[in-house]
Amino acid sequence: MDNILEFKNIEKHFNLEAGLFSSFGRFVYAVNDVSISIQRGTTYGLVGESGCGKTTTARMAVGLYTPNKGNIVYYAQNGKIFDSGNMNKQDLNELRGKIKYIFQDPSKSLNPRMNIFQILTSGYHHSSLWPGKMKARIEAEKIMLDVGLATEDLLRRPAEFSGGQRQRISIARALIMKPEFIICDEVVSALDVSIQSQILNLLLGLREKYKLSILFIAHDLTVTTFFSDRIGVMYRGRIVEEGSALEIAGNRVHPYTRLLYNSIPSWKDEKHEEYGMGDNEVSNSSEFDSGVALKGCPFAHRCKFKIEICTEQIPELRSISSGHFSACFRNGEI
Ligand SMILES: Nc1ncnc2c1ncn2[C@@H]1O[C@H](COP(=O)(O)OP(=O)(O)OP(=O)(O)O)[C@@H](O)[C@H]1O
Ligand code: SF4
Ligand SMILES: [Mg+2]
Repeated sequence: MDNILEFKNIEKHFNLEAGLFSSFGRFVYAVNDVSISIQRGTTYGLVGESGCGKTTTARMAVGLYTPNKGNIVYYAQNGKIFDSGNMNKQDLNELRGKIKYIFQDPSKSLNPRMNIFQILTSGYHHSSLWPGKMKARIEAEKIMLDVGLATEDLLRRPAEFSGGQRQRISIARALIMKPEFIICDEVVSALDVSIQSQILNLLLGLREKYKLSILFIAHDLTVTTFFSDRIGVMYRGRIVEEGSALEIAGNRVHPYTRLLYNSIPSWKDEKHEEYGMGDNEVSNSSEFDSGVALKGCPFAHRCKFKIEICTEQIPELRSISSGHFSACFRNGEI
């Protein structure tokens, strides 16, 4: 199977000082040397605690942030290759028709003054794919049915819909331009639990129907593991373990991954007992500000298996078994 999206040694830091003070350079190292390959037609789940860099990584794929280092390469179905290091404005617009980002909170991303037809087609209208109003109307009606809404809903406004329905509208807006790839960033987090499973089931159906490749980000590990083919576990801006969802669920090896999954009763693995030491709060990566990047393993401050080298060198991802990688100096020992 070929790759559709590749992150190659991506780094992103934010300068916390603006204007005159920017040269003082207090940085947040949000994403550090991340490499991810997503195969066409598959779902890649990105998991990790709040602030570990999931959204920052995803936003770079659609040019909402520019990486400070590394390249992001998208291989379109039509053979065109989009490289973040070599893209003009027109390429970026074209790419944004192929990759759609669905946000967490639909109430913030739907313009309350527009009706649903206008919302679905506002981006489409300005693209080179615009088929004219009549055809767009037919396409919009079809998409509304696909996401479980009615064609008459096209004339209503966002305020007339529930949270779950608004998320269906966001999904319809993403799909109308027939993307190849969607990024689902916490798309169910703002919804009631009962509605969450309806939206997830909808996404499962649409993934098949539209032959989508997906980058899936959700706080709920059970959902992400169930929904994804591969999982990347992120900690402080680094991928610390990566493997098939089956491997991560049944044979996770990195102390952080074990800690993360052990916090969920249904995933608790007695043989992994207590993995972290210290609190369960993630320390924000801004701890490494003043321009000083991370030295040593990102998990060392919480890891009870730490040895001398862990605070001196950054562990690289190393192969555990076919397609399964972990970045720990003690792989295979613990
Ligand atoms: N625009 C920004 N300016 C400065 N710092 C930022 C910006 N965006 C993100 N950060 C910082 O980068 C780090 C990673 O943030 P990011 O939003 O990617 O995390 P996340 O894994 O998506 O978290 P969550 O699960 O809470 O959504 C955090 O320390 C965050 O405060
Ligand atoms: S490299 Fe060292 S500190 Fe990091 S997870 Fe492995 S044992 Fe723990
Ligand atoms: Mg996020």
